[in-house]
Amino acid sequence: MAFVPRVRMGTEGPVCSSLVQGYWRMGDWGMDPQSRLTFLKQHVELGITTVDHAHVYGTEQAPCETLFGEALKLDLSMRDNIELISKCGIEVMQSGDHSNHVNHYSTSQSSIINSVETSLQRMGVEQLDVLLIHRPDILMDADEVTKTAELLQFQGKIKHLGVSNFTPSQFALLQSRWDSPLVTNQVEINPVNLTVTEDGTLDQLQQLGIRPIAWSCLAGGDLFNVDSNKMQRLQKTLNEIKQEVGAKSIDQVVFAWILKLPSRPLPIIGSGNIERVRSAVIATELTLSNQQWYRIWVASKGHGVA
Ligand SMILES: NC(=O)c1ccc[n+]([C@@H]2O[C@H](COP(=O)([O-])OP(=O)(O)OC[C@H]3O[C@@H](n4cnc5c(N)ncnc54)[C@H](OP(=O)(O)O)[C@@H]3O)[C@@H](O)[C@H]2O)c1
Repeated sequence: MAFVPRVRMGTEGPVCSSLVQGYWRMGDWGMDPQSRLTFLKQHVELGITTVDHAHVYGTEQAPCETLFGEALKLDLSMRDNIELISKCGIEVMQSGDHSNHVNHYSTSQSSIINSVETSLQRMGVEQLDVLLIHRPDILMDADEVTKTAELLQFQGKIKHLGVSNFTPSQFALLQSRWDSPLVTNQVEINPVNLTVTEDGTLDQLQQLGIRPIAWSCLAGGDLFNVDSNKMQRLQKTLNEIKQEVGAKSIDQVVFAWILKLPSRPLPIIGSGNIERVRSAVIATELTLSNQQWYRIWVASKGHGVA
C-alpha cells in the first residue's frame, strides 16, 4: 500500500503530509464521534496527517470543528499525530442577528482572535499548526492582520500563518508585512477551473518555493456530472487516460494531473469515504506524460493551444 510522503509546507512551515484531509463536508458524513475517530485514524495510518478545517465549516448547530473535537476527545493522543489547519476571516450571520446583517469577510484583530479562540475551544486543542486567512478581505489592513498573528503566535495559539484564495498581489501585500514566509496559498485547483494556472497565482508560488494547497480537486464532485459539453469532454478524456495509465478511477487521474503542476500542490481530499481516500493515496504513484496532461487541459478549454 502506498504511503503518503512527508514534505515541508512553505519554506519554513510545518512538516506535513503531501495529501491533506478536508473536513468541510464532515457534517454530511453521518458519522457518530467514534466513527469520526476511526476515519481520522484510518487516514493517519495511510500517512495523511494534515487536516483542513475552517471556523465557518458546518452549521451553526454543528460546526465541523466541534464534530472533529468530539472525535479527538475520545483519543487525545491523536492530537500529537496530526497537523491542524484552520481558517479565519469570514463572519457569518447567526440566528438572532439583526435582519439587515450580511455575511462578510473580516480580518480585524477582534474577528481573527475570536475565530481562532473559537476553533481551539471547539476542537479542544491548545494550538493550530497553521492559521489561514480564508478569503481576501477588501478591507484588510495588512499591518493589523500580521500584528494579530504575531500576538497569537506569542500566546502559543498558532504556529504558522498562510492565506487562501489570495491573488498574487494580495499575497505579496500580506507577505510584505510578515517576517516569516507565508506557508501556503490554499486555492481551487482542478481541470474544471483553470484560473490559478492563468492568473499568476501558481507562478508566484513556484517562484517563492511555496506549495499551494489545492481545494476541490474533483470540482466538489461536479466532475462526475455530465450535464454540460465541457464535463462530457473531460469525462471522456479522463476515462481514456485512466485506461492508458492503469488508474482505477478518473479521480486518480485528476489527482495525478494536479500533482504534475510544477508548483507542487498539496491536494486536499474532500471525501469522507475511506476507500476514496485510499484511492487518492494510490494516485500519488501515477505519472502523466505532458501529452496526457495537455489532453485534459484541451478537454477543459474546448480548444487546442494557439
Ligand atoms: N479554502 C477554501 O476556500 C476551500 C473551499 C472549498 C473547500 N476547501 C477544502 O477543500 C476540501 C475538499 O473540497 P471538496 O470537498 O469540494 O473536494 P472534492 O474532492 O472536489 O469534492 C468532494 C465531493 O466529491 C464527492 N466525490 C468524490 N469522489 C467521488 C466519486 N468518485 N463519485 C462521486 N462523487 C465523488 C465526495 O463525496 P463522498 O464524500 O461521498 O465521497 C464529496 O461530496 C474541503 O473539505 C475543505 O477542507 C477549501
